[in-house]
Amino acid sequence: MAAAEDALRNAIDPREFDAPEFQRDPFPLYKKLRDHHPLYHDRFHNRWVISRYWDVDGAFQDNGSFDRAVYRPDGEYAFGSEHVFGPNILEYGNSDQHRWLRNMVAGQFVGNRLTGFLPIVNQIATELLDKIREQGEVELISQFTSQFPIRVISNMLGLPREDEDIFVGWYQALIAGLGFGGEHLMRGVAARNEMWDYLDPLMKERERNPGDDLLSRLVAAELDGERMSPEEIKGFVALLLAAGGDTTDKAIANMWFHMLYTRPDQLDDVKADPELWSNVFTEMMRYDPVVHAQFRHTTREVKLHDRIIPERAGIILYLGAGNRDERAFKNPDTFDIHRDDLHMGRENRSGRYKDGKPGHLGFGIGQHFCMGYAMARQEAVIACSQLAARLKNIRPKFADHEGISSPSIDSGGFRSPNELWLEFDA
Ligand code: HEM
Repeated sequence: MAAAEDALRNAIDPREFDAPEFQRDPFPLYKKLRDHHPLYHDRFHNRWVISRYWDVDGAFQDNGSFDRAVYRPDGEYAFGSEHVFGPNILEYGNSDQHRWLRNMVAGQFVGNRLTGFLPIVNQIATELLDKIREQGEVELISQFTSQFPIRVISNMLGLPREDEDIFVGWYQALIAGLGFGGEHLMRGVAARNEMWDYLDPLMKERERNPGDDLLSRLVAAELDGERMSPEEIKGFVALLLAAGGDTTDKAIANMWFHMLYTRPDQLDDVKADPELWSNVFTEMMRYDPVVHAQFRHTTREVKLHDRIIPERAGIILYLGAGNRDERAFKNPDTFDIHRDDLHMGRENRSGRYKDGKPGHLGFGIGQHFCMGYAMARQEAVIACSQLAARLKNIRPKFADHEGISSPSIDSGGFRSPNELWLEFDA
């Protein structure tokens, strides 16, 4: 009798995933999933849900069983011509073509390439803050976070500085089209096409007169005797806007939200030692990461928790839930930048670290591990340190945080505040 009552109490109605309560605060449902349904078959959305830390980690690592590609009902890859970004690397799944493209571009965002670019990252942060510092208050998202990473990418590509505002406009339309249908999608696709028309002559010009910018390097890159097609280059640039721009924008907003509202006491620690912004980034990526879910398809039958997931089943990997798993982290629902059970240093693709501590899952792991992991951290740390140093005596004024900001399933569930107002001494 007690067991039956327990089962009833812990049952999940799959419509809960679409409810506003889940968008606002997904963590209670994540806990129920981890504790009572570590492998949940969601028949309503036709997918299987994985939520425990080591299970999410295992699926990310198991390329033989879990593919990133999206299939059409006829079993062929569904490349994203109707997707707002057009065909892009994420949709190459786990194929050799993905490996080829990744090897071609991944080096652009790490090591010396990244270090050489940091003065410009600093300069862009300074320029934006110069416009704000006399105001005495700021809505951080519209005036800073949504501007900063996209201007960084525009500069990295070597686009003319006078075109930066146009690029920001395309970015906003593309992001608004992401995960939404109808009018938003149409506007997003129109912005993408405009951006592609803009890039065409620029790519030809960079082919003739290469510079030291990302676009020139993408045009010239060659691996195994092959170059990227113009569509692949443009699809990659479009993806960068969301994968590199929107995510970092929201990461900076999440860092400030938690410093101001969740742990103001620890904001004092960070002001005293700005090196700790790196810990704030890591703990944010665990406690409340920007991206909460990633999608996979099984390529064969998979046994997990004594059940069989069939071949070609849709899988949702809730990395936001894995990050709060008490099987991996002590007091997982506490935001703590001084944690001793989380790998605080830079992430890597294997997700295994010399200090033996588990890392956050916020960049994924394995074949599709985020290519911009080092760049995102550097950008976020530079932005937050400059903000804290240049806006004196920052205080929270108002925040509107409705939770997952792009509610559609294929948006990956980006989570961040919609508005974040700060006050400071002008
Ligand atoms: C805090 C900011 C960021 C977050 C939360 C984030 C998150 C992620 C996640 C979760 C994935 C894995 C997708 C999967 O497993 O299917 C990913 C992949 C990717 N990210 Fe990021 N990302 C961030 C910043 C960046 C930046 C700055 C760039 C580039 C400049 C970037 C470029 C990419 C690319 C190209 C991929 C696809 C990799 C592949 O399929 O091989 N990301 N990102």
